[in-house]
Amino acid sequence: MTRIAVFGTGYLGATHAACMAELGHEVIGVDVDASKLSKLEAGEVPFYEPGLEEVLSRNIESGRLRFSPSYSEAAEFADVHFIAVGTPQKKGEYAADLSHVNSVIESLAPLLTRPSVILGKSTVPVGTAAKLAERTRSLAPAGDNIGFGWNPEFLREGFAVQDTLHPDRLVLGAEKESRAAVESAAREVYAQLLEEDIPFLVTDLATSELVKTSANAFLATKISFINAMAEVCEVAGADVTVLADAIGMDVRIGRRFLNAGVGFGGGCLPKDIRAFMARAGELGADQALTFLREVDNINMRRRTHMVEIVRDMVGGSLVGTRIAVLGAAFKPNSDDVRDSPALNIAGQMQLQGASVTVFDPQAMDNSRRIFPTLEYSTSAVEACTHADAVVVLTEWDEFRALRPRDLDDVVRARRIIDGRNCMPREVWTESGWHYRGLGRPVEPVRVNR
Ligand code: UGA
Repeated sequence: MTRIAVFGTGYLGATHAACMAELGHEVIGVDVDASKLSKLEAGEVPFYEPGLEEVLSRNIESGRLRFSPSYSEAAEFADVHFIAVGTPQKKGEYAADLSHVNSVIESLAPLLTRPSVILGKSTVPVGTAAKLAERTRSLAPAGDNIGFGWNPEFLREGFAVQDTLHPDRLVLGAEKESRAAVESAAREVYAQLLEEDIPFLVTDLATSELVKTSANAFLATKISFINAMAEVCEVAGADVTVLADAIGMDVRIGRRFLNAGVGFGGGCLPKDIRAFMARAGELGADQALTFLREVDNINMRRRTHMVEIVRDMVGGSLVGTRIAVLGAAFKPNSDDVRDSPALNIAGQMQLQGASVTVFDPQAMDNSRRIFPTLEYSTSAVEACTHADAVVVLTEWDEFRALRPRDLDDVVRARRIIDGRNCMPREVWTESGWHYRGLGRPVEPVRVNR
């Protein structure tokens, strides 16, 4: 059993704290946001993440997990300190805003009076960990007895608990000087996972930071690749969904992350590829990552293209039309609307004169907060009432399960535009609906499988 402190209680920190307690450790979660802490203390997760509430409550009840605003309490209590605060995009710049990470070190390091280990989990530009290690040593009374490592997190929202307790791999970056202490602390923390033969890669700080940013850059590139193919398919009269199935059968390519649609959003991929470009520029390797600018461009084009398709479907102008938007979260099983393609598209349609009504199974409160001018409904059917077009922008199971008979009598016109290629096309067309997918011809392509 290790005594652990986790700084930051957002998606990453709250999940990590709860899961470390689940592994049998004693954990204290620390945050500067008192309202988050009081919710968590009551066993309530301040965001939607399937399965997390159970893990949280179970471990609070067992006494292994608690929350506190106090850095001194955490410094006194824990032997391993995880940094799990956010690194958002800086306003008006591509670079990452490291103020939260820096402030954890500035507050924590002066309180470290005995040997302990700091492990960073936040996604940071390469070179950050080495600087933080140096700063920690200069501030901490325990000085050289503080081990410093980076242990990037690969969890996906919606699967956060599973990804933390059963990751594909564990990566640990450590400095030469404190490598032994850092590695042994990490081995103790993750003992249960290592017993399950989860691969554990120990490397230097810079490589560990780059593993995370390059993984997200690769995923973003894969999505933009298939979306670029969707653009070509549309003008060539081909079907990108069949194309993805076929190329995905080559194991070197793989089918996952090849779903063409309105593109990627969220709090990670968009800002991570931008921060990566900014950092490569600072290091003099900007040419290496200029392709990411194109990845970003393809992705942003999806949103305007989607608006054009809807406009085209309703007769050339959105003015005075009524559009139902199904989905607001950046992906299903999440209430996260950060950089969500769905809300962005809804907003653009409204600016072009449509009356837009949005429904999402989980993201209504967050959507209202950042986009109060859109209309919101309490159900998918209500959102579609009198709609001139139904636009599906997040592939929630609830929307996939909709059938024409659910909407036939409420809509003004039977038009469905499938921004995630997730609706069963034949079912809709056979019922007399006009269906449009992204990267798919207007007439279906025949496939014999
Ligand atoms: C992403 C990575 O997948 C995680 O490995 C990483 O740990 C995390 O960022 C992070 O840096 O913290 P996440 O942002 O939760 O996870 O979401 P993803 O599942 O990667 O989806 C990102 C976006 O891509 C969503 O908007 C999704 O709709 C879109 N997407 C995904 C597609 O458009 N097509 C696909 O085939 C897959």
